[in-house]
Amino acid sequence: MPFNNRNRNVLSLVHHTERDLHYLLDLSRDLKRAKYTGDEVPRLKGKNIALIFEKTSTRTRCAFEVAAYDQGAHVTYIDPASSQIGHKESMKDTARVLGRMYDAIEYRGFSQHTVDELAEFAGVPVYNGLTDEFHPTQMLADVLTMTEHTSKPLHEIAFAFVGDGRNNVANSLLLVGAKLGMDVRIGAPKDLWPAPELVQMCEGFAAESGARILVTDDPHEAVRGVDYVHTDVWVSMGEPIETWGERIEELLPFQVTPELMAAAGNPRVKFMHCLPAFHNSETKVGAQIAAQYPHLANGIEVTEDVFESNYNIAFEQAENRMHTIKAILVATLA
Ligand code: CP
Ligand code: NVA
Repeated sequence: MPFNNRNRNVLSLVHHTERDLHYLLDLSRDLKRAKYTGDEVPRLKGKNIALIFEKTSTRTRCAFEVAAYDQGAHVTYIDPASSQIGHKESMKDTARVLGRMYDAIEYRGFSQHTVDELAEFAGVPVYNGLTDEFHPTQMLADVLTMTEHTSKPLHEIAFAFVGDGRNNVANSLLLVGAKLGMDVRIGAPKDLWPAPELVQMCEGFAAESGARILVTDDPHEAVRGVDYVHTDVWVSMGEPIETWGERIEELLPFQVTPELMAAAGNPRVKFMHCLPAFHNSETKVGAQIAAQYPHLANGIEVTEDVFESNYNIAFEQAENRMHTIKAILVATLA
């Protein structure tokens, strides 16, 4: 198989090989060290990158912007409300316009089909900055962070995702863990399990990589012996607000509490979250939920005492969004 990341899209990671992923992870580590030591070489001078966000963002947008600027590239941020995309102009036409002006395009939106269509017609690399189905750029940061907090080789690392097991982050963690030969557990109520087609595809990857995959509705079984416990919001962007009631009821047993962390039975276990997290009632949504469900005043998907403890490496993970996105830009454009 040819090995070349230049001009490649990053849409889901379904078509990235284990070797491609290792290359991007190695490059991320190199670029992180170069930034820390002041030895970074800007390799993207004169490049222009469009950043389209049809959903809101803090980390992904800032990571792309800082990564691009560090490397000498320019960006245009297109916010959720101000473009013609969708209401006045199709994605196919938008792709053909932006592809003539930009060297690459990041896109955060709703259906995976939209980002796939953008990639099909843009003629320049397209990066999926999150869709309803996948969050591929988050995965490099998550895996880099996991490797940084253990001396184990990647294929010996075990991690669990507990919560909404069929959201973009859960799907992508399952996929990347399967590709990299890791021990992957998804702990979720049965109706929030990843789609059977995705599990089947990941089992195929696992057969080649040696990954172990467990999908269970028992949160304790999910976390037993793991090195990392991941979770994410119980209701994702784009889902109706009414979803909260049913999710809270179903997902309460999967809340990341000190007890669930202890159930890993691993003194070195760490907590991870792509962020933003509802870990107290200091946000608008957190306060609304707490008003209606007082037992969640100290956190929804993760409790405040876990979030504010030494378990939590979510801010390392957030920093790594920038180094890993920079690696994608350098690998595909330099
Ligand atoms: N983790 C993540 O994608 O964060 P943002 O929504 O802030 O970009
Ligand atoms: N599952 C979350 C991830 C946010 C980064 C969402 O889609 O809202």
